[in-house]
This record gives sequence, structure tokens and C-alpha cells, in this order.
Amino acid sequence: MALPVLLLLLFITIPFSESKLSMEYYKKTCPDLESIVRDTVTLKQMANPTTAAGTLRLFFHDCMVEGCDASILISSNHINIAERDADINHSLSGDALEVVARAKTALELTCPGIVSCSDILALATRNLITMVGGPFYNVRLGRKDGKVSQASRVEANLIRSNRTMEDIINYFTVKGFTIEEMVALSGGHTIGFSHCKEFADRIFNYNRTTPTDPEMYPKFAEGLKKTCTNYQTNTAMSAFNDVITPGKFDNMYYLNLKRGLGLLSSDHALVKDPRTRPFVDLYAADQAAFFKAFAHAMEKLAHQGVKTGRKGEVRHKCDAFNFIQA
Ligand code: HEM
Ligand SMILES: *[C@@H]1O[C@H](CO)[C@@H](O)[C@H](O)[C@H]1NC(C)=O
Ligand SMILES: *[C@@H]1O[C@H](CO)[C@@H](O)[C@H](O)[C@H]1NC(C)=O
Ligand SMILES: *[C@@H]1O[C@H](CO)[C@@H](O)[C@H](O)[C@H]1NC(C)=O
Repeated sequence: MALPVLLLLLFITIPFSESKLSMEYYKKTCPDLESIVRDTVTLKQMANPTTAAGTLRLFFHDCMVEGCDASILISSNHINIAERDADINHSLSGDALEVVARAKTALELTCPGIVSCSDILALATRNLITMVGGPFYNVRLGRKDGKVSQASRVEANLIRSNRTMEDIINYFTVKGFTIEEMVALSGGHTIGFSHCKEFADRIFNYNRTTPTDPEMYPKFAEGLKKTCTNYQTNTAMSAFNDVITPGKFDNMYYLNLKRGLGLLSSDHALVKDPRTRPFVDLYAADQAAFFKAFAHAMEKLAHQGVKTGRKGEVRHKCDAFNFIQA
């Protein structure tokens, strides 16, 4: 008799765990949540304009590894090397970590122990995208913070920009995204920057006979070569992901791709592959179509592997589990 009961319980809890997220989750317990996050985020973005891009990327990396559960915010300690310290973190933004920490501090003063770090990150990301010109979308709340954060689990759950479009499509498909959603999410590269080592192969080491990707707009390649001359010693050197409107969330990313102004190999591949090209063309021609698709895909990303109820906790501090993991 125990087994049927257990099965029944599983059926009841698992399919609905995602729909437990709601717009009203903190309405009674922390009514000022939205305004506190908005104020914190606005101040931080005004002081440090790189925050928006850094936070969007932090959120993407969080959701793709263990789900949107703030596992990316955990600091390593003597018994655990956390996600943040995986090699592929490619230098996650300190500003992004800081904006979440600041919002958490403000919230702990107003409604202690109530709001999860994963919900703060989801809200901050949406607000920052909107602040730099991107679309608004609803963020349902009620995520719990995860209790696992391991650097060793990152490599398999993120994808590098030098992979083939076949690999990239498979990666997103396995995570539940369509090709159209993948192309729309890639539009996140309309803001922010990349370090030279992420695209150095395209300008210095394309293949054995040709140093520079011939499909890159020549003047653009020339500029990047200058910027990245000593990138192996000067590792901080970087370039804007969207060279034309780097700080504005718009559809310029797709227009760039069509002109050979895509920065990463994975960006340029979107315009070459017949499966992704139609969406590049659509979003390049129609910013409203891009915004609609991006907003939809972000809502989906924000529900990735979400933990509710007892599957997680509300952290006291975003960079540490509430109790030490064995
Ligand atoms: C095809 C999959 C993707 C690959 C291979 C990829 C790769 C990269 C790489 C290599 C960087 C540069 C990191 C650095 O040098 O600091 C970067 C930056 C960035 N990525 Fe992606 N990315 C992908 C998808 C996404 C998605 C889906 C989003 C968000 C929706 C996103 C948002 C960003 C942002 C905002 C930055 C700039 C970060 C900053 O300025 O601090 N990426 N990405
Ligand atoms: C990313 O990993 C490097 C190397 O392990 C580490 O030094 C750095 O602090 C990490 N970045 C963040 C934001 O945690
Ligand atoms: C892609 O880059 C990673 C690290 O930057 C490297 O280890 C790997 O060999 C590269 N893969 C290809 C196919 O070039
Ligand atoms: C290198 O790339 C160029 C331009 O795409 C191409 O013509 C050439 O055949 C490639 N060489 C090798 C060795 O792959």
C-alpha cells in the first residue's frame, strides 16, 4: 500500500512544482520587494553601466546549471569548489554578484528570511534588461535556493563559443529550448563584452592557411586585432559584443551578424546555419518580433529547473548555504 501512495504523491508534487511560482508569492510577506529590488538595481546600474550585461549572463549561467536556484552565487570554501570557480565562468561579473548581494541586504532589513536569492536574481535581471532598453516580462516568484553548487558540474551544462552549431542546437534542445528560442536568447549578446581569448581564434588563428575568418568584416577584424594584440599577457582586454550599440538592448545584434560584425564564433554561426538564419533575418528586420520572442524565452529560462517547497531553502546570505554541506 505504501508504494501506490508514494506514487500518487509524486504525481501530485512533481508536475505542479513549476506552476507553484506566482506573481503574488511575496505579496503578504514582503510587499515592498519589487520597489526595493528596483531601487537597488537602478542605483547600481547608474553607477556601473556594465551591471546589466553581467547580471543577464550570471542569470543564464545560474539557470543552465542546477536550474535557477542561485547556485552560481555560492562562494567556494575549504570543502567545496563552487560553480563560480569553474574555468568556464570566464570571469563572471563582480558587479552582478554585488547587485544581488545589495538587494539581499536591503531585503533582510525589511523582511528577514523571506526572499530567496534566486528570486532576487530573476527580478534584478528583468529590471536591468528593461532599464537598458529591452522588453518587460513577468517574473513569477517562489524559487528556493539550491543546496548544491559544484564547479565540476559546470562544464557539462554550459557550452563554449567554439562549438559547432549542431552542438549548440543540441545543447539548447536538451535543456528544452527550440531553435527559435535559442536564437532569441542569443540576442542577449546585444549588450556586454567578451574577453579577447573568447574570439582570438577568429582573428589570429582561423585555420592553418588563413589567420582571420574571411567572413568577418575586414575593418572590424582589424580593430579587434589592435585591441587584442597582447591578449595573452593583457588578459583583461575585451571587445563589445555589439560593436554598434554596445550598451543598448536592441536588435542591432542580428543586423551585425548579417554584416560580418558578429564577435564570437557561435554568434556568426547563427547567420550561416540554415536552421537559425531565418530567425536572424526576422529579428534583424523586426525589433518587436525579437522583443516578443526574447521575453517569452526569458520567462521560460527563468523557470528552468526551479526548486520549490522543501527542495531548497531561503538563504540568509546569497554566497553561502544556510548550513555547511557535508
Ligand atoms: C550559444 C550559447 C552561448 C555562448 C557560447 C555564449 C558565450 C559567451 C561568451 C564566451 C561570453 C564572453 C564572456 C567573457 O569573456 O567575459 C559571453 C558574454 C555574455 N553572454 Fe553569452 N553565450 C551564450 C548564450 C548566452 C545567452 C542565452 C545569454 C542571455 C540570455 C547570454 C548573455 C551574455 C551576456 C549578457 C554577456 C556579456 C557579459 C558581460 O558583459 O559581463 N549568452 N557569452
Ligand atoms: C571565476 O573563476 C576564477 C578562477 O577559478 C576565480 O578566480 C574567480 O573569482 C571566479 N569569478 C567569480 C565571479 O567568482
Ligand atoms: C574550445 O575552447 C576550449 C577552451 O577555450 C578548448 O579547450 C577546446 O579545445 C576548444 N575546442 C575546439 C573545438 O576548438
Ligand atoms: C582556411 O579557410 C579559408 C577561407 O575559408 C579556406 O579557403 C581554406 O581552404 C582553409 N584552409 C584550410 C587548411 O582549412
